Amino acid sequence: MIVGLRCVVCGEEIEISRPCAWTCRQATTGDPYHVLEFIDDQAAPVIEIDAEEQNPFVRYRERMGWWAFARSHGMSDADTVDIARSVAGSFAITPLQRHAHLSESLGRAVWAKNETAGVSGSHKSRHLVGIMLHLIVAEQLGLFTKRETLAISSCGNAALAAAEVAAGQRWPLEVFVPTWMDDAFGSGLDEHGAKVNRCPRVDGVAGDPAMAAFRDAVRAGAIPFSVQGPANAWCLDGGRTIGWEIRDQLDAEVVEAQAMYVQVGGGALASSLAHGLGSSIPLVVVQAEGCAPLDRALRAASQIDTPERHWREIMTPWESPQSVADGILDDETYDWISIARALERSGGRSVVASESNIEKAHEIVNAMGPPTSATGAAGVAGALTEIDAGRLDDRPIVVVLSGAAR
Ligand SMILES: Cc1ncc(COP(=O)(O)O)c(C=O)c1O
Repeated sequence: MIVGLRCVVCGEEIEISRPCAWTCRQATTGDPYHVLEFIDDQAAPVIEIDAEEQNPFVRYRERMGWWAFARSHGMSDADTVDIARSVAGSFAITPLQRHAHLSESLGRAVWAKNETAGVSGSHKSRHLVGIMLHLIVAEQLGLFTKRETLAISSCGNAALAAAEVAAGQRWPLEVFVPTWMDDAFGSGLDEHGAKVNRCPRVDGVAGDPAMAAFRDAVRAGAIPFSVQGPANAWCLDGGRTIGWEIRDQLDAEVVEAQAMYVQVGGGALASSLAHGLGSSIPLVVVQAEGCAPLDRALRAASQIDTPERHWREIMTPWESPQSVADGILDDETYDWISIARALERSGGRSVVASESNIEKAHEIVNAMGPPTSATGAAGVAGALTEIDAGRLDDRPIVVVLSGAAR
């Protein structure tokens, strides 16, 4: 059971009963290099997993932070189930299937976790509904009365997921986007009632203006409805459901995989998936040649002890990120520390895919479907890269397809 959160950089601990503890208390504007991780006391589970239960937030509730938070305040298990069914009622375990066309094209069994079938067409909703569960529990416990606005900086799958999850609870949401955001995308956000703020670049000011506006909003009291661990560690709570599902689905199909490929942008997907999946399958993280800050940081980190204490020097922003996989163009991999640890635990590795392999992966996936964005097929490009290099044997591999094609 989750008993608290601990900063992986400075060791600061927070008890699980504290509401809305999104970030490490030592993090400041000058030193934002902190990130919390959930502490699990590894006690034997009490609630038996119901194999028929299709809602992951009900099925795996005992492993989750929002549930432990509710229980620490005396909420009954039955009430937590009611909350999960109402807040995360549209979530269901997504399919993991042997993908016939990918298997044929890659020359070994390829098992694909289909997140395009999930709420809002990507795994991002898992991250955000975990934060929402915490908020609704806190509200029902009377721990706050005023609903502060939720804030997110994104113009991709995360913003759409945020808009859908927030609208489900009629919770106000502000989305900070760059001025070049596609209007078609903006209308998707409008439909869910999100307030969209277009943030122009200011001459002479470095960095992403949408991100700067998001940070200002959070400093002014907004709730970081973020899919990046350092901005809100609670996004990693719900993100772990994908790993638990994959673990159970592989066991049910008796698949012994040689690698789990995950495309990486900000890193919350790989980090939380790895926590859920455990270390029995090597994790392979995949970035594009036009934006590979994680790969660069891992090489730098391997040269020194306690790399987490040298965050600023190790995880440096990628200059001019470029790829058709535009959802993984984060210039920094925010959740790099827990990914580095997961690679070590699982005997995994990092792969940088060429743009041509990213395009090829996109084509192969879409030849049979599900219709998937280039970003969401980028993990497959990592497998193509390793096949080219002769690194794989003929055992099965697993990939995540996320981000329905729009
Ligand atoms: C479809 C899809 N897959 C994977 C990712 C990568 O997730 P993360 O940024 O958590 O690494 C993203 C991020 O935007 C995405 O949209």
